[in-house]
Amino acid sequence: MSAPASNLTINADRLWSTIIETARFGGTDKGGVRRLTLSEEDRQVRDWFRAACEAAGCTVTVDGLGNMFALRPGKDMTKPPLGIGSHLDTQPTGGKFDGVLGVMAALEVVRTLNDAGIETDAPLCICNWTNEEGSRFAPAMMGSAGYVADLPVADILARTDAEGVSVGTALDAIGYRGPEEVGAQKLSGFLELHIEQGPILEAEGLPIGVVEHGQGIIWYDGRITGFESHTGSTPMHLRKDALATLSEIVLAIEALAKAHGPNAVGSVGEAVIARPSRNVIPGEIAFSGEFRTPDAGILDALDKALQDKVKEIAARRKVDVRLDTIWRKEPTHFDPVMTGAIAAAADRLGLPHRPIVSGAGHDSFHLATLVPTAMIFVPCKDGVSHNELESAKPDDCAAGTNVLLHAVLAVAGGGA
Ligand code: GLV
Ligand code: MN
Ligand code: MN
Repeated sequence: MSAPASNLTINADRLWSTIIETARFGGTDKGGVRRLTLSEEDRQVRDWFRAACEAAGCTVTVDGLGNMFALRPGKDMTKPPLGIGSHLDTQPTGGKFDGVLGVMAALEVVRTLNDAGIETDAPLCICNWTNEEGSRFAPAMMGSAGYVADLPVADILARTDAEGVSVGTALDAIGYRGPEEVGAQKLSGFLELHIEQGPILEAEGLPIGVVEHGQGIIWYDGRITGFESHTGSTPMHLRKDALATLSEIVLAIEALAKAHGPNAVGSVGEAVIARPSRNVIPGEIAFSGEFRTPDAGILDALDKALQDKVKEIAARRKVDVRLDTIWRKEPTHFDPVMTGAIAAAADRLGLPHRPIVSGAGHDSFHLATLVPTAMIFVPCKDGVSHNELESAKPDDCAAGTNVLLHAVLAVAGGGA
């Protein structure tokens, strides 16, 4: 006998304990998680995820990029499954919730449906996408990029990390280069729960954000070649200082983002001085850069302005600067039927909500180019993410998962 689906709620304690249990794979002393994609820790959490999904009655497959799909049958197996999930990799100093919440929430939805004896009309498919974070291998959201054919699979497999290890080699090393053709697991739509990673919901005291848009993103790899020379004996006017050059570029990125605000951001997250020494003027630096904004026209303007500014700085300082655009993701507009299902689910549960724009990148941005997709946000403490201190309240995680459950029932059918 099925319980009435309209009254169904997830098991909040079980959800919380799966989040805490999996945080031990790569857990850090400060309470965060270091689980770089395709690392040994990633293998451990993937093995845990596979076993948990199989125990919940799902059939797990893995594609050639390590994307994992746990299929729960539905009444009508001619329908492609509704995808639910996120990612299990983290930043080098990441938290317990970024990505993990979305995967554990999807598992909790399946477990709740199992307990209630509810079979949805369309099958469900819990997805764990490979390398959402993009910190070991660039760009971010790599597994889902391959899935939607935004990047060729062979190109992705050849990308290397800082040690020169390729994605293909790393997949083989942890046994997660699966036999399934990338893209073969069809989906009819995709729903992803995620922490907001920003301050808005917490500040407004709202438990739910209905994500309507995602920012466009542009990523750069830069290299500055100046000239190494003695810090004591080289007169200031004869220097070709790569670090001083980078300082100007960093400030230019900051100034450009501010000038195109309030909805534009820009950062330099990585900078490596070659052969650093306190009494050698830095002659060579590699760095990364990015801009994000929900407006494609502003992204264009930021890109052009930065390229021009970098040329001007390089000419004035007589150094060589290469600035390569290694990734551009256009702004995302989520599907109104899917955002409507999320808002309706929140209303049914009595949870106040607001529309919101995602500042962070998500696999849903790629899925949205292929199938109807939307995201649910829940607040996180002080809006902090990509930090070991990242934190979210059990009640908020449960509220978001209940919204996911009811949106799934509405979209996949079986709620009545
Ligand atoms: C990934 O988390 C990103 O937003 O870059
Ligand atoms: Mn994430
Ligand atoms: Mn992240």
